[in-house]
Amino acid sequence: MTKKKLIAGNWKMNGSLAANDALVRALVAGMKDAACTVAVCVPAPYLAQVQALCAGSALELGAQDVSPHEQGAYTGEVSAAMLKEFGVRYAIVGHSERRQYHGETDEQLGRKVAAAIKHGLVPILCVGETADDLEKHGPSAVPVAQLRAALAGAGLVDKKGTPDIVVAYEPVWAIGSGQAATAEQAEQVAAKLRETLAELLGADVADATRILYGGSVKSGNIASFMREPNVDGALVGGASLDVTEFASIARFQKHVGT
Ligand code: PGA
Repeated sequence: MTKKKLIAGNWKMNGSLAANDALVRALVAGMKDAACTVAVCVPAPYLAQVQALCAGSALELGAQDVSPHEQGAYTGEVSAAMLKEFGVRYAIVGHSERRQYHGETDEQLGRKVAAAIKHGLVPILCVGETADDLEKHGPSAVPVAQLRAALAGAGLVDKKGTPDIVVAYEPVWAIGSGQAATAEQAEQVAAKLRETLAELLGADVADATRILYGGSVKSGNIASFMREPNVDGALVGGASLDVTEFASIARFQKHVGT
């Protein structure tokens, strides 16, 4: 089955009103011919600004996190319902920087996935191994275990229905390092993640779910990833802040020739 590929930019904690304005205007103009879905995941204070800048364009909006809670005494958190009010479609969940610096556990991440789905957001669930994990356990053991735990925590396993989720395979050693995984490495893990989705959620959901690769994606290597059968897009950090790079990544079909 063909599904539209997804290129999602993760701005991380970068941006300013002036810089966002220039970046998003140029992106909206520069990706008119993108044949894939393109989204930018922006810091929460800029959601309203970027929502307005994206209005009427195909550029979609994402957040970088979502609270597992509905509302109430959770200082500093942003709920799925609040994100929804700003036209947010995607919420990154479990980025390795949140796992690492904020101690987020698979169990918490499962609840974030559930909160996102409940409010009609599409969670982009990030999984990936560190260099140490890779050495000790091989390439797919940790990402597969993280996926299993998050889906179980979200209460999705063996439930009826077809949750709209995106899984991003982001090897921690490749993030921001300039040392991307090879397309073969990404494909190998993506295939295992899809097998796991099929086992836990059924073949139809596994088929429909987009699995992204993330970690030092650039205009120069995007085509190699996009040629792989189990890689349905990319989560792009640093390169998403550079309009020429990001627009070129979003137009990867030109390089792949599909
Ligand atoms: P990078 O980050 O593209 O800068 O490696 C990817 C990510 O953290 O999502």
